[in-house]
This record gives sequence, structure tokens and C-alpha cells, in this order.
Amino acid sequence: MLLDPFKRPVSYLRVSVTDRCDFRCEYCMSENMTFLPKKDLLSLEEIERICISFINLGTSKIRITGGEPLVRKNVMELFKNLGVFLKKGKLKELTLTTNGSQLEKYAEDLFESGVRRINVSIDTLKPELFSKLTRRGNLDKVLQGIYKAKEVGLKIKINTVALKKTNEHEIIEILKWAHSNNFDMTIIETMPLGEIDYDRTDQFLPLSKVKENIRKNFTLKKSDHYTGGPSRYFNLEETNNRVGFITPLTHNFCELCNRVRLTCTGKLYMCLGQDDSADFVEAARSKNWETDLKKVILEAITRKPKGHDFVIRRKQAPSVKRHMSVTGG
Ligand code: 5AD
Ligand code: SF4
Repeated sequence: MLLDPFKRPVSYLRVSVTDRCDFRCEYCMSENMTFLPKKDLLSLEEIERICISFINLGTSKIRITGGEPLVRKNVMELFKNLGVFLKKGKLKELTLTTNGSQLEKYAEDLFESGVRRINVSIDTLKPELFSKLTRRGNLDKVLQGIYKAKEVGLKIKINTVALKKTNEHEIIEILKWAHSNNFDMTIIETMPLGEIDYDRTDQFLPLSKVKENIRKNFTLKKSDHYTGGPSRYFNLEETNNRVGFITPLTHNFCELCNRVRLTCTGKLYMCLGQDDSADFVEAARSKNWETDLKKVILEAITRKPKGHDFVIRRKQAPSVKRHMSVTGG
């Protein structure tokens, strides 16, 4: 088992396979994003080597993220190959965070490779607002993908970013829709990651307000469900389903952090909210990748910091320059 300097086990690896996305959500990207040149990306084989090295060191959960992971060419190969470790019992969970645009096409293959749960982002159920907010997306297509995923047996969690004015008054509706379909839901506070075209203070909606609103409609009971992540869960008595809240700004969630993040360029970030990283490219390309990667992983973990310190202030540069799509959501 990998332990960091604060004795927290590092059991969870999040892997961003691409910084690209077919959407441009207003809170995530700017309209004119410059993406990384393809030559700077790790190959899928190199990504797989890094994953295998983590698995060999006791990592039991891997999440594939992006950008939008399903827009990376041949990404299903990676799922298939990592799925083998599920079957061998060396990996407990292989999962995915997606915007759902390609889900209809891939849901079956994902299930076959051993994926059982996925997170899908939905910030609104109003078709026009969805197109505006994502600047590219088609709500219908995403919903078809979600229903297809449900049909093939994938357990779905809906991620919704709380945005002042934009979806502030719709969150209850999204929650009702999610729970009526038996999807769990997690509501996320905006985080100051990367330059966007808007002032983040205008988007920021503290989840304390959202919770207050939910309480007017439902009975929230604290749940002991815990995934080692930033989400704090509640059960909704009326629907018997779960709702999670991620509040990086109003609540510090670092004390039990169990995760590290690999970018598509081969950097390992030990914390989403800090700039320190370790470069795995050379080790992943080496003939002796097994020993070399083990060495760099062990060294990187000794640098996992105690926590982050995000702040959103007007006209202030983002706390962290990387977009969420680079480090992985
Ligand atoms: N703050 C909060 N959430 C974000 N996401 C992307 N960028 C940000 C941000 N700056 C969300 C996506 C997705 C999840 C992985 O992260 O909407 O649901
Ligand atoms: Fe793409 Fe997700 Fe960012 Fe939206 S939030 S632009 S879907 S990576």
C-alpha cells in the first residue's frame, strides 16, 4: 500500500487521457481554447504502463477523465486492457467521468470492459441553456447516452456544477429527475482552475445556499457513505437516493485525500490545488519502465502536500493556472 507523508493511503489514481473536449462549458474553458499539440500527449500504451505501475503498488481504483475521455482515439483499448486487472482482482474499480456526448456509442463496450459506474455531467435540463452553457453540446444526445448507459447496466451519478443565476433555481428539478431515474447526484461548487472568459465571482454559488433550498423541498439526512473524496453525502428521505456536495471553497476536504492525478502529458499532480508535479514521461518510455516508473512514483508520493488553498476573488488570477480539463475533473 502506498502511503503519503501524512500516512494517507494513495489508493486512487485519476487519469486524464486528453485535454480536449467537444464542449466548452463556460465555467471550465474559454471559447478559444488552445489545446496541447498531439505530439505532447502520452500514448495510450504509456498511460497503461503508468496505470499498471500504480496497480502493482496497491492502487485499487482508477478513474479515466479528460477533457472528454471518450473523444480520445482508441480509448476503448485502454479500458479493455485495464479491465483485465479487474478480472484478476488486482483492481477494484475502473470508472469514468464523461460529458455523455459519446456515451450512446460506447456504453456497451464500457460495461463489457468491466466498468460498472460512471459519472456524467449535467448542469441543466433545458435544451437551450444546455447549448449555451456548453457552447457546443446537444442535450438530447447526452440524455440518449445516459439512458443507454442505464439500459446496459451502468450505475450513473450525475455531476452538476452550481452556477449563480444560470442553474441556481433548476437544481431541485435536476435532482428530482436524477433520483426518479435512480441516479445519484453530486453538486459541485466552482473552483478557480484556469482562465475562462467570465469573472468567477459572478458564477460562484455557495452550496450552503443550494442545501438550504433543497431542505425546503426535501429531508436531508447525513449519510456515512464516503469515497475518500471531497464529496459529503446526504440521503434524501423522500427519494431514498443520495446527494453529495463538493465544497472546496467553503469547506476543506484534504484531510482524508486518497488520490493523485495523472495528466495526458505524463505529469503526476499530487494535489488538484497545488502546482507541484512529477514528470513520468521518461520513465514511461523507458525499456525498463517497470522499475523506472516504480521509482518515480514512490518519489512523487513523498511530495504529496497536506492540502490546497483555493480562493476566488474578483479580478484575481486563478489560484491554479491549469484548467480542470488538464488535470482531470
Ligand atoms: N469548477 C468546478 N467544477 C468543474 N468542472 C470542470 N471545471 C470545473 C471548475 N472550474 C466539473 C465538470 C465535471 C466535473 C468533472 O468537474 O462539470 O462535472
Ligand atoms: Fe468539457 Fe467537462 Fe470542461 Fe464541459 S466541463 S468543457 S464537458 S471537460
